[in-house]
Amino acid sequence: MTSTARDLLAVSPVIPVVVVEDPADAVPLAQALLRGGVGIIEITLRTPNAVAALAAVAEAVPEMRVGAGTVTTPQQVEAARNAGAGFLVSPGATEALVDAALASGLPFLPGAGTVSEMLALRERGLDTLKFFPAEPSGGRAYLSAVAGPLPDFAFCPTGGISAGSAADWLALPNVGCVGGSWLTPADAVRARDWDRIERLASESTALRE
Ligand code: 3PG
Repeated sequence: MTSTARDLLAVSPVIPVVVVEDPADAVPLAQALLRGGVGIIEITLRTPNAVAALAAVAEAVPEMRVGAGTVTTPQQVEAARNAGAGFLVSPGATEALVDAALASGLPFLPGAGTVSEMLALRERGLDTLKFFPAEPSGGRAYLSAVAGPLPDFAFCPTGGISAGSAADWLALPNVGCVGGSWLTPADAVRARDWDRIERLASESTALRE
């Protein structure tokens, strides 16, 4: 199992950012991603059933690295850890959130969109970050400019990245992987079209070949 945030970036070129409405969908969805070669999933804590979905995947799909996304409060850190999350992702960071995430012992990818936010996180020992929201925060040009002064950071840019733009992001020296919701489109999940999700997953793994 993954032990550090840096390791998480190496699992798959794309971390699927997933919204689960019906917890019964979580396991077949995770299995479809796995069949497509994607061994990591970020279940966003944006729906009432997200924690149950996370627990179901952690229990039933042990080969999958399952993490909690959209973690914005210390209470959610606790809920995610209790549900069996293997890592945490947040869109931004506060002191209380960083305290809770570090105390949980779980690998943590906090969100940052500016150089000052990045530096503040490094002061807490965190230099593997989610660059969020990637496109609106300045896109590839911004992150590429950051690589000069901050060469020790590694990023998972997320927000506005697509199948079409992922390869360009992955070509940046400070990008380990990207995050995105396009592997699990809402209509495919609603239709339980697991084959389509497997196909999208499998296309994403080719991004690093
Ligand atoms: C996230 O929460 O990380 C983003 O909302 C995912 O962004 P995307 O939908 O633009 O891929």
